[in-house]
Amino acid sequence: MAEQRNAGRRVISQAEADAIAAKSGVQKPGSAAKPKGEGINRREVLAIAMAGSAALLTAGSLLFITSPDPAADPLLGPLLKFTAAQDPTTGERTYPVAGGFAYPRIKAGTFGGKFTLDKKASDFKDTDDPFPIADGKFFVVKVPPDATIQPVADEDGNVNSDGIMAIYQVCVHLGCLVPYIASEKRFICPCHGSTYERDTQYVRGPAPRNLDQFRVKITNGTIVVNTGQRVLGESHA
Ligand code: FES
Repeated sequence: MAEQRNAGRRVISQAEADAIAAKSGVQKPGSAAKPKGEGINRREVLAIAMAGSAALLTAGSLLFITSPDPAADPLLGPLLKFTAAQDPTTGERTYPVAGGFAYPRIKAGTFGGKFTLDKKASDFKDTDDPFPIADGKFFVVKVPPDATIQPVADEDGNVNSDGIMAIYQVCVHLGCLVPYIASEKRFICPCHGSTYERDTQYVRGPAPRNLDQFRVKITNGTIVVNTGQRVLGESHA
């Protein structure tokens, strides 16, 4: 019966059938192109991947800039461990601001570089309110010799005898800028209430340690603050 039905017809191979279909514009079942608007093509996948990378980079940069202690951050920490230096004698930990990557390109007078102050060491009194230097993100404070917290040493290991310290304005809890509240004679963070004495010492709140200091060098009364060298405040835990 089948032979009778096929009589007079030419039997063609699958390859020939595909060639004829391709020539006539007929597509094979299952090979139809996706209608516009459905699914995503390779170009869209690339665009999404690039947007994702940019978002991650931006988030990482923000975290890096604002984190009070990037070296202790669970994500950045492992990448930055090598930049944190610890004095074997005092236990002081320091690391260059911006992890050291940008440090060599930072100009004097911009954050991350050195600031030479117009005021001399003798212009400060240990009863003055902290003097803010906005560009450097620090306060200058003179503390009395009996203050609990004293200035940290300069890059050569010398502690200035003028009691001048440069206090980083960023809260060591989650990085908010901390104002000095003159009526309370303390630094009080507006974000979660961490409170610090005028000499950086932690008083209360979620902050894990004292405020951080920058290294200060005083030569003939001229004060130079190195905002590329931050010394972490002591932990109270
Ligand atoms: S950021 Fe200052 S207390 Fe939280």
